[in-house]
Amino acid sequence: MADATLGGSTEAISATELAEIGLRCEVDGEIATITLDRPERRNAQTFATWSALARIGESLPGQVRVVVIRGEGPSFSAGIDLRMFTPEGVPGQGSFGTVATLDDAAFEQAVAEAQRGFLWLRRPDIVSIAAVQGHAIGAGFQLALSCDLRVVAEDVRFCMKEPALGLVPDLTGTKPLVDIVGVSRAIEICLTARTVGAEEAYRLGLAELVVPGEELPAAVRDLVAALLATNRDAATATKRLLRAAPGRTLEEQAAAERAEQALRIRALFASS
Ligand code: ACO
Repeated sequence: MADATLGGSTEAISATELAEIGLRCEVDGEIATITLDRPERRNAQTFATWSALARIGESLPGQVRVVVIRGEGPSFSAGIDLRMFTPEGVPGQGSFGTVATLDDAAFEQAVAEAQRGFLWLRRPDIVSIAAVQGHAIGAGFQLALSCDLRVVAEDVRFCMKEPALGLVPDLTGTKPLVDIVGVSRAIEICLTARTVGAEEAYRLGLAELVVPGEELPAAVRDLVAALLATNRDAATATKRLLRAAPGRTLEEQAAAERAEQALRIRALFASS
């Protein structure tokens, strides 16, 4: 497996920098595996986590087709680092007390920067998979939601805790949640801040696959192998179509299918 230093189009981020933030990233051919690696804090996330995720996305080597996000230890992620709620905050990153004093433009910029860490996972040229065991709370749930697919262990516990803490979920999780479970169920899940377990997650479409915890790595490997077996350009075009479908009319979607297929068929026959 390659060193974690990434070398895409933007400035690379080193394994040492990532380790200081509590992340690892390993690139093995067409597969990138990002690991939340602060198990002693249940992989709690900070602003540095989100900036690093954004940089990983921006510098991802061009050959990568599948990105797996996983968490070390018993929990996928216990959400935002709760030290953000203390006056001392997280060393070097301040606290919500300092964030609250930002003017509108600076606040907007700070949250947009955090959201960049999540948004790239929808890119059409990759398929992102969250491998989720144990707790996925708040920012942890939103990180899993920002992936295309979720493979979960039987002990998974999703929870959108933000409203219980006086916040809204703002790490791009509300849109996929509503798209998957519908507005009413999303309201119920978020406004009660209750836990969603594996069986319900599967039934609601929040998980594509539920497996015993010890089988999670193998289940992800099998899924990755199946995804890599398809034609890359066709997979990219198909994901682009599927991601755009909810925002289009049937006629618009049919036109988009024609346009993508024209490119595909011309490319196939040009190369034969
Ligand atoms: N931020 C900072 N540290 C955390 C966090 C967190 N979000 N979650 C857990 N930790 C730390 C604990 O303080 C503890 O540290 P310690 O060993 O120094 O005491 C260690 O991780 C282990 O945590 P435990 O609570 O002992 O682990 P357990 O497995 O029993 O429980 C659980 C895990 C359920 C995730 C629990 O830690 C928890 O409820 N955490 C807080 C969840 C939360 O409210 N997150 C914010 C959501 S809102 C948002 O993300 C925007």
